[in-house]
Amino acid sequence: MSRLDSFIHRMMAQRDVLNGIRKTVNGVEGPVLELGLGNGRTYDHLRELFPERRIIVFDRAVGSHKTSTPDPENMVLGDIRETAQTFAGVNAALVHVDIGTGYDDKDAITLTWLPQISAALLGPGGLVASGLELKHPRLDPLPLPESVPAGRYFLYRRIN
Ligand SMILES: C[S@@+](CC[C@H](N)C(=O)[O-])C[C@H]1O[C@@H](n2cnc3c(N)ncnc32)[C@H](O)[C@@H]1O
Repeated sequence: MSRLDSFIHRMMAQRDVLNGIRKTVNGVEGPVLELGLGNGRTYDHLRELFPERRIIVFDRAVGSHKTSTPDPENMVLGDIRETAQTFAGVNAALVHVDIGTGYDDKDAITLTWLPQISAALLGPGGLVASGLELKHPRLDPLPLPESVPAGRYFLYRRIN
């Protein structure tokens, strides 16, 4: 599969997963967290899905289109490994994670801290949708929409 096809499939999976959990997330209190602003396309989609929620976004720097740039009070700049830790216990209803690089060695380093931080950000019953597989005892894997092949995107509910 070309990288273009792979990218398109990943974006379709991301959209289908986020659209599919809208009702569930609306039944859980708490903010929505976006780890990885990038261009801001997913942030813009999250705004459409969850217009009443506070959406807090994390990235090293603002690189988004100006029409999908969070207000400064909802934009947390710096290395997510450190900045997200300061939000532990925020009881998020949803954490969306899009910080995979496509390089297995780099993603392996990210995965030494990302599952723990994701679990710590969520409130009970909160969901995390991620492009990287998150293995953590408090993250219970959930079924994906039928359109999403296993392993293309990952979805979990925080238990306990
Ligand atoms: C794939 S892009 C996100 C794309 C985004 N979903 C969009 O709609 O454009 C990944 C982003 O995560 C950020 N990122 C990755 N690892 C990070 C880290 N450890 N700390 C801060 N930002 C990070 C990168 O700077 C990049 O902007």
